[in-house]
Amino acid sequence: RSQPLVLGIESSCDETGVGIVRGTTLLTNTVSSSMDEHVRFGGVIPEIASRAHLDAFVPTLRQALADADVSLDDVDALAVTSGPGLAGALMVGVCAAKALAVATGKPLYAINHLVAHVGVGLLDGNPDGGAAAGRGAGRPASLAAGLGHGSRLPENLGALLVSGGHTEILKINSITSDVQLLGSTIDDAAGEAYDKVARILGLGYPGGPAIDRLARTGNAKAIRFPRGLSQPKYMGTAEEPGKHRYDWSFSGLKTAVARCVEQFEARGEDVPVADIAAAFQEAVVDVITSKAVLACREHGIKDVLLGGGVAANSRLRELTGQRCASAGIKLHVPPLDLCTDNGAMVAALGAQLVMAGIGPSGIRFAPDSSMP
Ligand code: KG4
Ligand code: ZN
Repeated sequence: RSQPLVLGIESSCDETGVGIVRGTTLLTNTVSSSMDEHVRFGGVIPEIASRAHLDAFVPTLRQALADADVSLDDVDALAVTSGPGLAGALMVGVCAAKALAVATGKPLYAINHLVAHVGVGLLDGNPDGGAAAGRGAGRPASLAAGLGHGSRLPENLGALLVSGGHTEILKINSITSDVQLLGSTIDDAAGEAYDKVARILGLGYPGGPAIDRLARTGNAKAIRFPRGLSQPKYMGTAEEPGKHRYDWSFSGLKTAVARCVEQFEARGEDVPVADIAAAFQEAVVDVITSKAVLACREHGIKDVLLGGGVAANSRLRELTGQRCASAGIKLHVPPLDLCTDNGAMVAALGAQLVMAGIGPSGIRFAPDSSMP
């Protein structure tokens, strides 16, 4: 089968993304973010994000086509994130994709955003960041993606997705037909916890990078914050797993940080912001990595793909690397611009569906903000 040219559209949160792939080769990953417009509100405002997608879509599409040096006529199939995400934001990308499908007569594939985060690992490239593959192909190193296995993923692959919207551990039995959710957060996503705690500590938005930086100067052992859902009643045993053995909860942690700050203030003492940031980060990263590695070990997972914006976190990368190595699991971290939300991952998964001979979605599907 010849390699299909697929154009992918992403609009589930604050990034307007258009990516183009040919089979497993990435041609372009064009992203426009409305993050700057949300900063003064301390979080993504759905209404603003939706309007920004409206403004950004056509310019982003034009840029992507120019960068890849292709025309819409050349495209074999369109793919669009149909969920999960912000309802109004998804609506813009889905309507744009349907309009393109109607205007051009190209088949359209509705894509699950979370599975697409894993699909990005199918793009050709060097597993350790793609520098060599990228250079060879005459494009920036970061355009070469994750696993470097072409269209074949390793068997027993897991995916750890950690961002402002999701915290999940998945088992990928087949990327086109069988993705199993092993565990997820039951309340806030990890990135959301970073952002909320940064606000409590007066560090601004987005909070993840600020906490990551400040934590390097603090003592993570100065305070011990709770590791959510780690008690025996939630964990159970390998033979009899508890209901939340592989799940996370971060809202209690956020409350514990707020209490801690209040106590220092009530005593009239200076709040040790760096120590709190370091201890908070250690609590998040410890519980994410320990439960993810446990889920992998108990499901025979030998390779793990790390994705989502929090994959930028230095301590998460370090501890995930250490714990995976001790457990004999190979960790794959795609370049950061492919870890965060983008259109290339949507195109990559769309191409897999085309190559697997799976039919398109038509244009009657609706965006689903809470898609499982
Ligand atoms: O994947 P992403 O760009 O957007 C979605 O949420 O889907 O992730 C953004 C999240 C934000 O919550 C941000 O605070 C967090 O990723 N983040 C980080 C770091 N860089 C970004 N969290 C911790 N450490 C970082 N270095
Ligand atoms: Zn995402």
